[in-house]
Amino acid sequence: MRKIIIAGNWKMNKTQIEAIEFVNQLKRAIADIQEVDIVVCPPFTALADVKDVLLESNIGLGAQNLFWEDSGAYTGEVSAPMLKSLDVQYVIIGHSERRQYFQETDATVNKRLKSALKHGLIPIVCIGETLAEREAGKTFVVIKTQCLGGLQGISSEEMKKIILAYEPVWAIGTGKTATPQQAQEVHAFIRRQLQEMFDEETAAEVRIQYGGSVKPDNTNDLMSQPDIDGALVGGASLKADSFVDIIKNSCGVKT
Ligand code: 13P
Repeated sequence: MRKIIIAGNWKMNKTQIEAIEFVNQLKRAIADIQEVDIVVCPPFTALADVKDVLLESNIGLGAQNLFWEDSGAYTGEVSAPMLKSLDVQYVIIGHSERRQYFQETDATVNKRLKSALKHGLIPIVCIGETLAEREAGKTFVVIKTQCLGGLQGISSEEMKKIILAYEPVWAIGTGKTATPQQAQEVHAFIRRQLQEMFDEETAAEVRIQYGGSVKPDNTNDLMSQPDIDGALVGGASLKADSFVDIIKNSCGVKT
């Protein structure tokens, strides 16, 4: 069975001090939860301090991006070996905000993904359609294109290490969550796509998170869907109370 994974994407929020305070609070509140995987993805500037607080806790550490070269003249970029040196385990790749504001494409997603895998980071690869694409009836075409491009040249064994996050762009930060049925429909499509690109066993193993206005009160309904295996949470992951409630509301859902 696929274990639920709840990850908090802090985006460009929290200073070093705020980050330390937050993870201390979080650690205490969920110390005994083993049933779901829990991850926080602070900005680069807080990774080192958050790592120290999370030592020997049940909370994993993720970054929000990486560059595909290991080192060199790439001003402003951060590489996989640098993240590994801070014991970062996960890395978000291809978030829609990076696609929208920083010219991320399926080709650059693919390069980042290969670097993450090469260095043993667990990639969380984001895909999802915009409102215009959904309204034009192009959701499945967009998702298929993103899967084919982003996952190009990946083996079945590698695919099993990757987490996908379906984040409909129209649901991010808007308060408009996809209904559990809308999300499930796309998650099932993604799994069928993985079956075509890889094989049945791989498709059955890959965890697919949902992201887009996940809140404590919609968590249970979303996580109850057969092909939804977790959440990538933005706004509601910034407050300990709401993130803890999302984690707690994800427990016991699949049993
Ligand atoms: P919100 O939860 O704020 O809608 O953000 C979702 C997201 O983009 C997570 O990566």
